[in-house]
Amino acid sequence: MPKDKNNELRQPAEILFAEELDALIKAEKHDVPAGWRMSPRSVLTYICGGKCGKLDITPKYIGHQRLVEIAISTLVTDRALLLIGEPGTAKSWLSEHLAAAINGDSTKVVQGTAGTTEEQIRYTWNYAMLIARGPSNESLIKSPIFRAMESGSIARFEEITRCASEVQDALISLLSEKRLSVPELVTEVPAQRGFSIIATANTRDRGVNDMSAALKRRFNIVVLPAPADLETEVSIVTKRVGELAANLQLKATIPDQEAITKVVTIFRELRAGQTLDGKNKVKTPSGVLSTAEAISLLANSIALAGNFGDGTVSDHDIASGLQGAVIKDDEKDLIVWKDYLGNVMKKRGATWRGLYTACSAHVGE
Ligand SMILES: Nc1ncnc2c1ncn2[C@@H]1O[C@H](COP(=O)(O)OP(=O)(O)OP(=O)(O)O)[C@@H](O)[C@H]1O
Ligand SMILES: [Mg+2]
Repeated sequence: MPKDKNNELRQPAEILFAEELDALIKAEKHDVPAGWRMSPRSVLTYICGGKCGKLDITPKYIGHQRLVEIAISTLVTDRALLLIGEPGTAKSWLSEHLAAAINGDSTKVVQGTAGTTEEQIRYTWNYAMLIARGPSNESLIKSPIFRAMESGSIARFEEITRCASEVQDALISLLSEKRLSVPELVTEVPAQRGFSIIATANTRDRGVNDMSAALKRRFNIVVLPAPADLETEVSIVTKRVGELAANLQLKATIPDQEAITKVVTIFRELRAGQTLDGKNKVKTPSGVLSTAEAISLLANSIALAGNFGDGTVSDHDIASGLQGAVIKDDEKDLIVWKDYLGNVMKKRGATWRGLYTACSAHVGE
């Protein structure tokens, strides 16, 4: 059992942002849907940021507000919500914050893998008790989805497309009938108002096309795009790196805006296959250079600087991370990276010289 909440490596959103959530609930002026803790408008303020009385609500998801509005509205209808997109586009992040705002509980999660079974979606038994006393409420172990139905709240289903199709199919009847039958107890559990599912899936690994048409129809699909422009992506990365560094108690200063802009520029150019000004083509590496990857690269550089450097992130610290992010396992990625260094970075002049030199030194090692 965990002893100290402050020692948890990562706390759920409803604990981290409890102050903002409480303030929004207290100040509520609009209708609150059954089973929700706040109105859809307040959920939007919580996710996209704004003011609640004197309190600033920090933006959690940075991007198209319309997408968030669509996501929230879906959850008041009888369709479930499916967030899809490239890796690292904040699907899990948005799903967690939506559940935190709507229910104050983002922890009813099924983590989808190839090994997920139907029991993890429905229920299973405490077998010792089952043998001793037979099927009973006490020996029933409810899945997160079961608990969400019973309590009229939101369950999250991560990486739904990784699950075998039989397992996905178990969701079809559950989502259309909104009842879960437990034949062993001769009973059926009706979903209470407020029940819904937020599923996430990334489009790189196993496509959403593999989902059956019947299941897809029960979801409203919202596609989360990569950040539209350099400024947006820089602001996402700056904000999250600051939060992460504080959370992980990393002992070094956050890289300045210029360094973050450089990293994001490199990521965007390699991702798009051309320089930002559109003048030069560049080759794209095999891995995904997502916003999330840029965030962890910078967090790693801070850790390097804090532990083995002088506490300020140097070009050398960033170069180590960059090489690891761009070159996954492929020989080809090394060629892509060398091309980029020689054809793009080298020609950028004095402001890029330090980073270019550090990166070249790493490649040469
Ligand atoms: N538009 C954005 N607004 C705010 N944060 C973002 C945005 N895009 C990415 N992030 C940040 O990226 C990180 C990773 O996001 P997350 O884990 O939710 O990605 P994901 O889409 O679920 O990826 P995967 O497909 O690999 O599971 C989070 O820390 C999140 O804050
Ligand atoms: Mg995810």
